[in-house]
Amino acid sequence: MAAATTAATISSNFLSALLLLFLVYALGGAADESHQLQHRHTIHLHQDKANIPTHAEILRQDEARVKSIHSKFAKNKGQGSINDAANLPAKDGSVVGSGNYIVKMGLGTPKKDYSLIFDTGSDLTWTQCQPCARSCYEQQDPIFDPSLSSSYSNISCSSTICNALTSATGNSPGCSSSACVYGIQYGDSSFSVGFFAKDKLWLTPRDTFTEFLFGCGQNNQGLFGGAAGLIGLGQDYLSLPSQTAAKYNKYFSYCLPSSPSSTGYLTFGDGGGVSKSVKFTPLSTIPPGPSFYGIDIIGMTVGSQKLPISASVFSAGGAIIDSGTVITRLPPTAYEALKSAFRKQMSQYPLAQPLSILDTCYDFTNYSTVSVPKISFFFKQDVEVPIDGKGVFYVNDISQVCLAFAPNGDDTDVGIFGNTQQKTLQVVYDGAKGRLGFASGGCS
Ligand SMILES: *[C@@H]1O[C@H](CO)[C@@H](O)[C@H](O)[C@H]1NC(C)=O
Ligand SMILES: *[C@@H]1O[C@H](CO)[C@@H](O)[C@H](O)[C@H]1NC(C)=O
Repeated sequence: MAAATTAATISSNFLSALLLLFLVYALGGAADESHQLQHRHTIHLHQDKANIPTHAEILRQDEARVKSIHSKFAKNKGQGSINDAANLPAKDGSVVGSGNYIVKMGLGTPKKDYSLIFDTGSDLTWTQCQPCARSCYEQQDPIFDPSLSSSYSNISCSSTICNALTSATGNSPGCSSSACVYGIQYGDSSFSVGFFAKDKLWLTPRDTFTEFLFGCGQNNQGLFGGAAGLIGLGQDYLSLPSQTAAKYNKYFSYCLPSSPSSTGYLTFGDGGGVSKSVKFTPLSTIPPGPSFYGIDIIGMTVGSQKLPISASVFSAGGAIIDSGTVITRLPPTAYEALKSAFRKQMSQYPLAQPLSILDTCYDFTNYSTVSVPKISFFFKQDVEVPIDGKGVFYVNDISQVCLAFAPNGDDTDVGIFGNTQQKTLQVVYDGAKGRLGFASGGCS
């Protein structure tokens, strides 16, 4: 196992606080639509007076996360029965003041529930823990108190499992009065440090794991909103899918809801069968790494136009899929082709100022509906994944609505299929079979 994962700037993906984009009907709609319109989304616009996240800050955090992911790969360069499923409702994290996606899980005996961010770009699960010896940020749920859980125990420094932290966190474990100490930091200098511990995990009241290994955080800082901590869904040994592999065979799926008022899901196990609408692409081995989920992009379309990008542009750096990166990052050569096609097909709308890393923004002040070209990704084995209408734009306000894609610095940097573009898709991670699956219309 190689050095692992950092990742995970906990950043908001929520464009929708100020302006909600309502997708009224997607493509393939009415019979009288022209061919051109079948390749476009019609989006209705209206103002929402909800409180405003600072978008420049969100994008800055997103960039920090991506830098941290890139630095991981830079180091690497040159080198049971699954009929049971546990289904958890997933919410847009803005309900707890965090932008990432959260689910509630139970911990301890007796069980108490915690809202946790789920992250496919890291491995260690942790929650803030009493007595918060150094520092806990404010969270919505009462903070986990190990002294009130009869099933809690510390992992000792002499335990071999203590050493698994090196690969799961990228940092060697510490030792304090014979208790194993973990430390994990994320892209934007958010971090959690505390005791490595085990306790009973409750995915649902009947899906429980008695000796779940997690971090009991005594010093936690960063942009986790009011979430109690984070669930690591990476591929490393300590991740939740790995620890529950005997039951779920490293199979999980989610759907990221398109707005704070809708609900998606995070489900472990295939529930006895995979929906026929799910199309699978093999997990990619480029880029290499024990934690991230690699995906081979082979092409993209905008409207009816296939972008003129040679396959070698995408394969130079490879790509990963990440639930914690907001904006999809493309090789600059691919981004230029996307931008140029998108701008051409959106030429009837006035451009606006760029927003941080986003350089293709529109001023929709004078429009109540806009018609937007459909964007599709093609992954290995010709799996077409059409991006939902709500996955195209990052909205600052109605006068600055930006194409939610950004270029990497270099074609050899790893690309990232981010969470804005994953909205409403059913996304399946099948670790045992080494494949990723996609279907449209997983949630609203
Ligand atoms: C875990 O270890 C810490 C540090 O030694 C200690 O303060 C705490 O009481 C221990 N908790 C349990 C339940 O053993
Ligand atoms: C919107 O319409 C007003 C009134 O016609 C005009 O002054 C303004 O420039 C328009 N704004 C944009 C961004 O097109």
